[in-house]
Amino acid sequence: MSPVCGGASVILSQTFLGGIHNHIGMREEILSAALRSGVLLEPRLVDYLVSKEAPLDRLLEILEVVNPRPLVITLDEAQALGKRTHRPAGPPSEPRPPPSSRQGSGKPPRTEYDPEVQVVKDITGRSTCTGEMRDFARYFEHRYRTLSAMLRQRRELLGSTPISRVKKMTKETRFIGIVQAVKRTKAGHRLLQIEDEEDSCQVLVPSTGSAADEYVVLDEVVGVIGRPWKRGIILAETLIRPDVPRSNVYRGAEAPLWAAFVSDLHVGSKLFLRERWAKFVEWMRGAEASKVKYLVIVGDAVDGIGVYPRQDEDLELDDVYLQYEKFSEAIEDLPDEVQLIIMPGNHDAVRPAEPQPALPSCIQKLFPEDAIFLGNPAAFRLHGVDVLCYHGKSMDDFVTSLPGMSYGRPLAAMIEMLRRRHLAPIYGGKTPLAPEKADHMIIDSVPSIFATGHVHSLGVGEYRGVTILNSSTWQAQTSYQRIHNIAPRPGMVPIVDLQTGQTFVKAF
Ligand SMILES: [Fe+2]
Repeated sequence: MSPVCGGASVILSQTFLGGIHNHIGMREEILSAALRSGVLLEPRLVDYLVSKEAPLDRLLEILEVVNPRPLVITLDEAQALGKRTHRPAGPPSEPRPPPSSRQGSGKPPRTEYDPEVQVVKDITGRSTCTGEMRDFARYFEHRYRTLSAMLRQRRELLGSTPISRVKKMTKETRFIGIVQAVKRTKAGHRLLQIEDEEDSCQVLVPSTGSAADEYVVLDEVVGVIGRPWKRGIILAETLIRPDVPRSNVYRGAEAPLWAAFVSDLHVGSKLFLRERWAKFVEWMRGAEASKVKYLVIVGDAVDGIGVYPRQDEDLELDDVYLQYEKFSEAIEDLPDEVQLIIMPGNHDAVRPAEPQPALPSCIQKLFPEDAIFLGNPAAFRLHGVDVLCYHGKSMDDFVTSLPGMSYGRPLAAMIEMLRRRHLAPIYGGKTPLAPEKADHMIIDSVPSIFATGHVHSLGVGEYRGVTILNSSTWQAQTSYQRIHNIAPRPGMVPIVDLQTGQTFVKAF
């Protein structure tokens, strides 16, 4: 054997042996990761995972979906999960024009289906808060308990300890708490004060390292993996959010129907774009819109009164009742088969504190009898598809609290809400929050569609199987927006195909 061949043979052997060692090492890693999550894996499943790329990520996806978790997960169970339709998560896509909705029979599809709306979550008629100190304590207790239970489902936070014990630990520690304070040190690091139900501690997030890009907002519930540093301070290595499971998939309707989302008409303002709205109503009556079964109005249908200083100068109608009458006229020519769902925003005639109840009956009676009025936020199902609608006032707080956020990029703030599983975590900012018995702003189940408005922009995208959208406006640029360099994108309507979750945008 020539030295060259011998050399090659040695190299091959080393690679082969290395492969076997990696294989064994990976099996051990998979098994111990499963054990940490409290489950055992069938040997065939371990073989299967080892044969795949990124086996630990695959395992994580399986663990996130299996709920409740059995003692042993088999290969068959894991493969059954993998067969679900899965749209890859990705960055928000560019708005697309509508596909043809014409049917061979010529009959509009929406006339063939009765509306199917189930309300899942709505504060209307259920508000209990009186604003006493006791209410606030109960409200934050509920927030902490609900979100920390979600975080405990995360593999990385299994075995997390109460903060009272964290301070005495000498090695790596993991715990969950609510963020009480965020300060920046002279060296540019961030110092967090985090508390649970019994104790609190300080957490240093270094300006470089794996946790450096994880920005934290006040009052959010977060998981921390770190190690003791000095003077009882924990040095954070990883910050963990409840988030949407990576393996989440869009669960669609069987019926070939669409839902259109609009918001921020601001009827009553001199800047209401009446002609463009009329064109939308005309389009809704035509063949191209024949699959649109639902029209959801995500708040701020009218401009309201006294919402901001010197608003009277911008108003065409200074009586809120007249504003709703005009709004009612603006929608009266919509086809009868379209189911209307109307919720309030911060300009509407309900309490400003969120969650907001539905519009009062004296206003509801101005609208068609079958219109559905919900609070803000509201969770409901359209032909079986889970929808979460939130007007979006808390984006004012996200834009000022997190770097990279802007009114022109609403999807970025919406993704931060989904990651935190909370629509408005920051208390005492620009979003008034009512201390209800339960925190209604928690996103306790993952929707298939998440819609917002408020920022007068447009956004269409997807995050981990959730269709996300922001529904533009029908008001031209106000003087306030001009001064603050906010450029609205009016007259754009995101429309979701309820079967697939794909969204397209129609411009008027
Ligand atoms: Fe608004």
